[in-house]
Amino acid sequence: MKIAFVGKGGSGKTTLSSLFIRHLAATGAPVLAVDADINQHLGPALGLDEAEAAALPAMGDRLPLIKDYLRGTNPRISSAETMIKTTPPGAGSRLLRVCETNPVYEACAHPVELDGAAVRLMVTGPFTEADLGVACYHSKTGAVELCLNHLVDGRGEYVVVDMTAGSDSFASGMFTRFDMTFLVAEPTRKGVSVYRQYKEYARDFGVALKVVGNKVQGQDDIDFLQEEVGEDLLVTVGHSDWVRAMEKGRPPRFELLEDANHLALQALRTAADATYDVRDWDRYTRQMVHFHLKNAQSWGNARTGVDLASQVDPGFVLRESLHSVEVGAPQPA
Ligand SMILES: Nc1ncnc2c1ncn2[C@@H]1O[C@H](COP(=O)(O)OP(=O)(O)OP(=O)(O)O)[C@@H](O)[C@H]1O
Ligand SMILES: [Mg+2]
Repeated sequence: MKIAFVGKGGSGKTTLSSLFIRHLAATGAPVLAVDADINQHLGPALGLDEAEAAALPAMGDRLPLIKDYLRGTNPRISSAETMIKTTPPGAGSRLLRVCETNPVYEACAHPVELDGAAVRLMVTGPFTEADLGVACYHSKTGAVELCLNHLVDGRGEYVVVDMTAGSDSFASGMFTRFDMTFLVAEPTRKGVSVYRQYKEYARDFGVALKVVGNKVQGQDDIDFLQEEVGEDLLVTVGHSDWVRAMEKGRPPRFELLEDANHLALQALRTAADATYDVRDWDRYTRQMVHFHLKNAQSWGNARTGVDLASQVDPGFVLRESLHSVEVGAPQPA
């Protein structure tokens, strides 16, 4: 399951992503955690100290390796240089799975231990001024988008992305790459306006969007969110002393997180899991092609000197392999 946390700066994306990752890991679920936020804070939120966080390998610096691996022997992609962030997989491409080792994880993923469980953490690397403009070709989140478009995840496997809801993610199609998007909103007009903007983009693409109210202090806050967001409001979270202790560098054991917050995290998981049954790999593939053609026209063809539309393999659909799904033989009658 691919899950994104988005929202206004400071709303609590990183905090809630990290809590959700801890929640999943505590149940033994395999988790790939991805920091694609402008402010790279997911590592520290998962308990890494400053030096460990600074030493994390940046996906943005390893784009050639990522592209070369994913390209595999796909004859439609002549070189890593002509592969842009939206180049879709086709016959011959290499796909990623949540539970495996591969050169991309070896180069970019860092194991993080959480109360005995382990997750993999990948980070885009710090953003610069140039990343925030229209520098599409070298965009840091491009590495994440490529990986998501080549990633075949199954039920009970999780990819959790802490993400900026910037214009880049709308232009590239990144915002359509998730089974579930959790929009973290404080009970303020600004918090809700980011929701409205996201909802507007999401409308035509069947994006599953739920609002997680954060820093909610009382009934008035809940009423406000309910009025503004309606049935998209999934759950609300109040101030957490556990989070504050973690911020002080003294994380208590995760099981000591407040009961109400454990319940909220369970609600997030239930909502995310429920989307598995309505998964549509055909649409998922169609959308990546749609955004690839759009990017090809608007800058990619000019930039690479290649007609990038020819990279699209019309017969290819990204999907779970039938072999990996069936666990346990059927019982004899
Ligand atoms: N429920 C909460 N209880 C206590 N503190 C919280 C809670 N949610 C967020 N915070 C605190 O608020 C601050 C901002 O949260 P966080 O860094 O998660 O936001 P963000 O949306 O990821 O911000 P940025 O846009 O800077 O990446 C942090 O100091 C965090 O610890
Ligand atoms: Mg953050």
